[in-house]
Amino acid sequence: MEINWQLLHSEALAAMKKAYVPYSHFPVGAAALVSDGRIVSGCNVENASYGLTLCAECGLVSDLIASGGGKLIAFSCVDINGNALMPCGRCRQLLQEHGGSALQLMTDQGVKPLSELLPWAFGPEEITNRLPS
Ligand code: THU
Repeated sequence: MEINWQLLHSEALAAMKKAYVPYSHFPVGAAALVSDGRIVSGCNVENASYGLTLCAECGLVSDLIASGGGKLIAFSCVDINGNALMPCGRCRQLLQEHGGSALQLMTDQGVKPLSELLPWAFGPEEITNRLPS
């Protein structure tokens, strides 16, 4: 599928402008292309109980599921200046669940697969040997 990185970047910027960041003053926006061609996005939402902060990627995943699901194909995350931001460790795991190792991410160093950012990942396919029900 053709990836329009410029469009993803502008959608991430638009999401960043909606961020709720009264504590860090560090707005983040993320946007991703889904397997069916739609675009999902999210912004960070902070909390007075700082540790409860929702990263932009959390909002994006919520948008993905609430708008019909599917697989993430390409992802862009930006700061207030529109520079590429790397997803935090926790959010790399969220992206693994919904994009898999082949998910393409825009970075300072160009486009990279998630497998480079989260090698040897734990994912849904690892959950096989459960207790019998
Ligand atoms: N943040 C994100 O939204 N995504 C990331 O992957 C890194 C961090 C947010 C959380 C917090 O609101 C702010 O950036 C500063 O850490």
